[in-house]
Amino acid sequence: MDRVKIFDTTLRDGEQSPGISLDTGEKLEIAEQLARLGVDIIEAGFPIASDGDFESVEAIAKQVQGPTIAALSRTGFKDIDRAWEAVRHAKSNRIHVFIATSEIHMAKKLRMTRDQVKVEAAAGIARAASYTGDVEFSPEDGFRSDPEFMVEVCQIAVDNGATTLNIPDTVGYAMPGDYGALIAYVIENVKGDYVVSTHCHDDLGLAVANSLSGVLNGARQVECAINGLGERAGNAALEEVVMAMRTRDDHFGGLTTGIQTAELARTSRLVSRLTGYPVQYNKAVVGRNAFAHESGIHQHGVLEDRNTYEIIDAREVGQEAAQIVLGKHSGRHAFAETLSTMGLRIQGDALNQAFTRFKELADRKVQITDADLEAIVAEELGTSEVHRFTMVSLDVRGGTISTPTADVVLRDGDTNVEATGTGNGMIDAAVDAIATATGYVGKVLDFNVSSVTSGGDALGDVVIQLEVGGTKASGRGVATDVVEASARAYLNAVNRIVRIQSRGQEREHDIGP
Ligand code: KIV
Ligand code: ZN
Repeated sequence: MDRVKIFDTTLRDGEQSPGISLDTGEKLEIAEQLARLGVDIIEAGFPIASDGDFESVEAIAKQVQGPTIAALSRTGFKDIDRAWEAVRHAKSNRIHVFIATSEIHMAKKLRMTRDQVKVEAAAGIARAASYTGDVEFSPEDGFRSDPEFMVEVCQIAVDNGATTLNIPDTVGYAMPGDYGALIAYVIENVKGDYVVSTHCHDDLGLAVANSLSGVLNGARQVECAINGLGERAGNAALEEVVMAMRTRDDHFGGLTTGIQTAELARTSRLVSRLTGYPVQYNKAVVGRNAFAHESGIHQHGVLEDRNTYEIIDAREVGQEAAQIVLGKHSGRHAFAETLSTMGLRIQGDALNQAFTRFKELADRKVQITDADLEAIVAEELGTSEVHRFTMVSLDVRGGTISTPTADVVLRDGDTNVEATGTGNGMIDAAVDAIATATGYVGKVLDFNVSSVTSGGDALGDVVIQLEVGGTKASGRGVATDVVEASARAYLNAVNRIVRIQSRGQEREHDIGP
């Protein structure tokens, strides 16, 4: 009872964030890192949603050791059978069944009566329990449901084999006191042997506070996501929930989690790179400024005694200063060794491509830090297939007088394709050239430039969200030059769109309730 389980839903609820589309290799990479981080349960996906989702959950269930692997499912037997088919390979597996219990969801979305929902929940849970002894039930929109009815459905779930009851605040409407009271009410009124779980969305910025209030009222599982990813404003941020309980263990009566906190920063960076969702600089725990002291008074205090202005040691969450690791004379062996020490699994063609990028970078930047390495390697990480297009060369001209123009040469399979583009700036021209060369002319929905480390020779880090023919994907590119980084980001997004479209991995957005 002193242990709070951490249920990570980065790969399911997190992946439902607009513009995020991870392929199987990328999901596996994140799942491996979540296992290193020490999460108890990985919710790997929603197998009925698409063949791509099914494949990813199955691959994670087959390959990732340590955590329980869970799959989400509605109450229909087709969903549950598909979820089981995907997770059954895991040593420890879970089926997570949900159905809505709020009046608005039942009337407007499900078009079901209360009695129909009870029947559906009973049948779905029983079916899941016929496959595995670890079944979770969620009354969707639980916080806005009639508590008496919600508890009645939860009791039916436990009676039919549910071992975890997860109470979602699906629309992020709860206040901490009320959410905690609801958790206490469930525990008081549902008889049986089960664990209560929180699942809070962040629409009012209260997801972490609500989850912690749930814990104080008896919840022993928290559903959360790295960097707070998730539908709309996201879910409770895993790193914040864990560090709040650890830093204020006096307040939480000594409750612990199994999280290896020194892995938090790296996990956050990996998820940010592969999803294309940047982490805000001042984000608690994992933001790059979370341990930076700007004012003279603060700096003076910290120099005297860190405890004056720091409640967490940066090393505790893996946020120590970037280390200089390699230079231009480092060879392939040292490169591969360093990556493996950093816990980055990369092999074969991806390793070769990453090494080529490293050498190019080493010619332009004297000292290459672990953060730089992570950034360039992330472009290749988790990509089980070779990208269709790779960049051979890019030549851009611009300024205040002539029209910005770019010439690009790309490799497409065995042939080189060349194109020239123009634009209202050098980035626009480079993107135009790539769009013409690839034939993937899209709409740039979002464009974000930042730097990987500080200093004049820092790598530029560009994230682009692109839409081509209704398919959306984000792409990331890093280079010492932001024009090149932007071109790489666009190309990366095009390669993802090629993969999504060729595998039919797009979610069936009209998937029923
Ligand atoms: O927010 C929610 O209600 C969910 C459920 C499927 C658990 O994500
Ligand atoms: Zn959710």
